[in-house]
Amino acid sequence: MTVSTSSAPAPRLKYELEPYKPLGEAELTSRIERAKRAMGSRLLILGHHYQQDKVIAFSDLRGDSYKLASLAASDEQCEAIVFCGVHFMAETADILANRPERLAARDGRRVPVVLPDLDAGCSLADMADIDQVEECWAQLGEVIDTADLLPITYVNSSAALKAFCGRHGGIVCTSSNARAAIEWAFARRSRVLFFPDQHLARNTALAMGIPLEQMPLWNPHARELGGLEPDALTQSRVILWTGHCSVHQVFRPEHVERFRKKFPEGRVIVHPECMMEVVERADLSGSTAAIIQAVEQAPPGTHWAIGTELNLVNRLKHEHPEQHIYFLADVACLCTTMYRIDLTHLCWSVENLAAGTPVNVIEVEPETARGALLALQRMLEVR
Ligand code: 13P
Ligand code: SF4
Repeated sequence: MTVSTSSAPAPRLKYELEPYKPLGEAELTSRIERAKRAMGSRLLILGHHYQQDKVIAFSDLRGDSYKLASLAASDEQCEAIVFCGVHFMAETADILANRPERLAARDGRRVPVVLPDLDAGCSLADMADIDQVEECWAQLGEVIDTADLLPITYVNSSAALKAFCGRHGGIVCTSSNARAAIEWAFARRSRVLFFPDQHLARNTALAMGIPLEQMPLWNPHARELGGLEPDALTQSRVILWTGHCSVHQVFRPEHVERFRKKFPEGRVIVHPECMMEVVERADLSGSTAAIIQAVEQAPPGTHWAIGTELNLVNRLKHEHPEQHIYFLADVACLCTTMYRIDLTHLCWSVENLAAGTPVNVIEVEPETARGALLALQRMLEVR
């Protein structure tokens, strides 16, 4: 069964999962190990840092969005990828692993990219759809010169939005190369439309010295012109989109202030999907990989408050007993869609791959993949 860009699970698949549900952890673990052994190097399991420990233990390689995309682009050995992450990540891996030159080198054979649970989406990615972005572009064209406007989509977006960027000379970015992507854009055009995460865009542009007054916020639900006055658009440099990550919006400025009172010498590091008021109070901000690196490289005994997803923070606590690690917020916030990937779904997907009956294959439709590839290749070239 192959699923295009939709994330709706087919009833037949739900039914097929039933026999796996009563299985305990020990049995699931040994069955996954057996299926992995049977496939050997033909199978590549990629795991995002937000995956739960039991799942990440099975990943051959783990990383942030940028690293996982480049791993999918560069692996020449594997015959199948299981992506322990969310839907947009699997789409990106499919586009890169099955790009035309790779297909030609394999005599047309595709590398299936499997997302163990099709319900593993991203609420931020869902905050901009292609119709809204096309409509925004058309309305902007009534006020500003869109020939001098470059679209940037955060990788947390559908393949259709990446294809839109590819068609309009634009680029995809991740949290680890957002600044480089905006600089790349300004070397070509004088204005940027950045979707769907307002916070990553605002935080990055502010760090580049662009004032808030030149960053109007486009609301795709407003009746016209994104709820903005024409002047706000003519004076703009980076047009933001009303989108946010519901996990990272939990972190508040008062969490940083409370930590600082308790540990004046401590360090605060947050993901750039957090709101501006949090990022500007933190010592550092960066992608999941940058957060891990900062903790790894700090002198032992450093007190850290970390503002990102709970599974990653807990893993850092466990893997770095030489550091004092605290979760920045007072309420737990884990990414519930990342959490959907569990041992039950992983076992079901790797056993089916080993049996030659893959389930939950994410395959982006060719026209969309062509446009998206252009913008993704630019992303991989810009760091
Ligand atoms: P990274 O690219 O930093 O891993 O972030 C992915 C993500 O979804 C953060 O919410
Ligand atoms: Fe999407 Fe936020 Fe989850 Fe990242 S943490 S996958 S941005 S919902």
